[in-house]
Amino acid sequence: MTSTLHRSGTPELLDLHPAAADMRQLVIEGLSQTPKQLPAWFLYDAEGSRLFDLICQQPEYSLTKTETALLEDQAQAMAAALGDGTLVEFGAGSARKVGPLLEALQRPAYVALDISADHLAQACARLQKDHPDVPMVGICCDYSQLEQLPSHPLLQQRRLGFFPGSSLGNFTTTAAETLLRQFRRLLGPDGTLLIGIDQPKATERLEAAYDDAAGISARFALNLLERLNRDLGCDFDLDQFRYQARWVAAASHIEMALISQRDQTVQACGRSWHFAEGESLITETSHKYSPEAFLNLAARAGWTSEARWSDPRNDLSLHLLKQAD
Ligand code: AVJ
Repeated sequence: MTSTLHRSGTPELLDLHPAAADMRQLVIEGLSQTPKQLPAWFLYDAEGSRLFDLICQQPEYSLTKTETALLEDQAQAMAAALGDGTLVEFGAGSARKVGPLLEALQRPAYVALDISADHLAQACARLQKDHPDVPMVGICCDYSQLEQLPSHPLLQQRRLGFFPGSSLGNFTTTAAETLLRQFRRLLGPDGTLLIGIDQPKATERLEAAYDDAAGISARFALNLLERLNRDLGCDFDLDQFRYQARWVAAASHIEMALISQRDQTVQACGRSWHFAEGESLITETSHKYSPEAFLNLAARAGWTSEARWSDPRNDLSLHLLKQAD
């Protein structure tokens, strides 16, 4: 592994994307479940990452705009509370949220982790242009499966985890607890975590946010099938699935699914899969936590609350966590 530090050109990129064989295994496992469900990161091929950026601009999806504004307003206070170290962003996407923190930190350095290699490369190149003096590196990986962060000079100092966007919501509560415990290991005993958490709100607002009038959310979900067809040789017929987003109050999550429009059989990863008419393939769930529910979960994973910032409407929070022991 190279350890060259590019101070102003194109940032260095490490590629640890799961191999096609591992993806096939995950598809077989996911389609064998009842209901059928695939890991949410499968949504993020190049086109999926592009569509997700479009979702963030839809009027119904306020999360990104609200959180970005909160980060811009409170960057000084957050940077002061974070202290010195390297920001490590899990699921950086287009890396459009970290700018104010990089400007507010004393000696900023940045490591961006994301599953979408080309998108990550573009995001890092743009960010490096805007912040030519900030050392940065991109790592393409499934951050939920990392045993440890790769050894890199930027990761030899204190690590400040950054996990905005309520991405934790994509994990079941059990998996979320495991992930938060894993972040403790990845960030080290003196590591902190700044994490964005979206809160439960009116059903109509939530369902509209995940099924926008322009149909971008639907295209985002359907793109999963296109990706499976292209990258893994499956034969999903996109016309035979319809997108649905519904709030499941008992689980406190939005469930996003592609509903089979008829009885059909799909070839995927060397096997035949039966879909009954009306059967769901869950593309992702998005869990919403009250601040109290989230802090209970965080406590079970060994984190305590250091500070919390929220927007004027109290839609979401950015929590600063430190390790309990
Ligand atoms: C990236 C998981 C935070 O759950 O709000 C948004 C994903 N999918 N619309 C979310 C998503 C469709 C998003 N997260």
